Amino acid sequence: MAFEDLKIQVSSIASNNEGSAKDKMTAICELLQEHIDYYDWVGFYMANHEARTLHLEAFAGEPTDHTVIPFGKGICGQVAESNENFVVPDVKAQDNYIACSITVKSEIVIPLFKDGKNIGQIDIDSHKIDPFTKEDEDFLEFVNEKVAALL
Ligand code: SME
Repeated sequence: MAFEDLKIQVSSIASNNEGSAKDKMTAICELLQEHIDYYDWVGFYMANHEARTLHLEAFAGEPTDHTVIPFGKGICGQVAESNENFVVPDVKAQDNYIACSITVKSEIVIPLFKDGKNIGQIDIDSHKIDPFTKEDEDFLEFVNEKVAALL
């Protein structure tokens, strides 16, 4: 499915009056994981700024052991501190990386801002090498804006 069609569906999930924020985030993860062939795992981590940890809030794909990630650790932990998109074309080239599965080859993490504050992130793992483009970044920024609006 094209990004433009998925944007319509994400907006519709986000603006639904029923269901918790967590349910909607899970539905968005499932939508993306199902319809974009190189999105093999999709999850939202939310930040606890006092503890300086990220907590897995919603996901689609294989369950992961990494439900809590300290700020600074792995790709996710680095984005919690940098506030910037992090595209990893080949995870083997990263020193500060937390492997969830040996099948994962690449990753993209986009911070989620609410009222200008980095409160979490969307994290995508792919079994393909170097699949992510600027279009994925733009699309995932859109998704995060919609999620921020429902939190
Ligand atoms: N690979 C991530 C950890 C989270 S899993 O991909 C689900 C990282 O390095 O932060």
